[in-house]
Parts: sequence; structure tokens; C-alpha cells
Amino acid sequence: MKLENALKLLREVPDFPRPGVVFRDLTPVLADPDALRAVVDALQDDIHPDTQVVAAIESRGFLLGAPLGYGWRYGVVPLRKPGKLPSVADREPYELEYGTAELELPSEAIRPGQHVVIVDDVLATGGTAEAACTLVERAGAIVTGVSVVLEITALGGRERLAGRNVSALLAV
Ligand code: PRP
Ligand code: MG
Repeated sequence: MKLENALKLLREVPDFPRPGVVFRDLTPVLADPDALRAVVDALQDDIHPDTQVVAAIESRGFLLGAPLGYGWRYGVVPLRKPGKLPSVADREPYELEYGTAELELPSEAIRPGQHVVIVDDVLATGGTAEAACTLVERAGAIVTGVSVVLEITALGGRERLAGRNVSALLAV
């Protein structure tokens, strides 16, 4: 399937999680075997060839990070929400619209000098991806890029990640 047809399966759900917000739902894309393959292949096309590890952001980033790792022989490291990991190497807070959240890097997962791509489904404000980059870099690794399926340009994530290699399959 062509990427453009795969992305046509993206569903817009109005008023979720709050009135006035349009939720961009990848579920129908991932549920279609041909669309899933088109999206994962396209993500891979933009990943820097030096990359050794995919750092996938909980939770929707996991759905993309694992097939990339399996398909192209990257290691896969989950960047997790708090309280899930038995052994935490580092943690980084980030802002949500209301309050703050945190990502945790598991112990003994990323080694200094490794080349790591950050993968997630959506780039919105960029707060989540920025925290992910911070964790990977503080571990002494090199972020080769931030790869997402969908970028919501009005929310300024790309500007927030200025200086990094950001790639999105679709920008709205
Ligand atoms: C969503 C999305 C990205 C993040 C983008 O995840 O999957 O991870 O928000 O937002 P930002 O660019 O403004 O930081 P969410 O935190 O809703 O959790 P989920 O993936 O576990 O559903
Ligand atoms: Mg997410």
C-alpha cells in the first residue's frame, strides 16, 4: 500500500479527550496490515543509517518502535511512564496542559556513544519528545533523530526540538 493511502485511514475524533480537541487516532492505520507495513517502512526510510537503537515512548510509540527494531535490527528501549520499571537509570519531567508528567529510562539499556532514534506516534507540543531526547543524551548517547507518524504543526513541537533532525510522515 502507498503511504498516502495508509495515512488516509487516520481517524479524527472530535471532542476527545476534551471538548474542542480533535484526537488523531492511528488505530485504523495500525489495524490494517498493509497500512501498518507502509507506515513502518516509511519511518525506517527517514532513520539515519548510523542508528543502532530505537527509543520508543510509552505507550503509543511502542507500537512503532518494536516493528522497526525487529525489521531493521535495532535494539528497542522503552522510555516509560513512572512506576513501571524495576530499575531506573534516569528520569525527566515534562509539561502537560494541566500538570506535569515524567519519562523514565531503564537501567543498562542505552550505552554512551550509541546512536539512538526517538520514535513516537504524534509530535504535538514536543514536550514528550524533548524529555526523551534529554534522557538519551544524558546517558551519553547520540540522538540521530526524532521520528513520528504525525506532526501537529500548530503546537510547535518542531520549533521546540530545534537543531534536531525531526521527521514526520504527515504534518497537519
Ligand atoms: C501523546 C502522543 C505523544 C504525546 C505528544 O501521548 O502519543 O506521545 O502525547 O504530545 P506532546 O508532543 O505535546 O508532548 P500520551 O501522553 O497521550 O500517552 P499515550 O501514548 O500513552 O497514549
Ligand atoms: Mg504517547
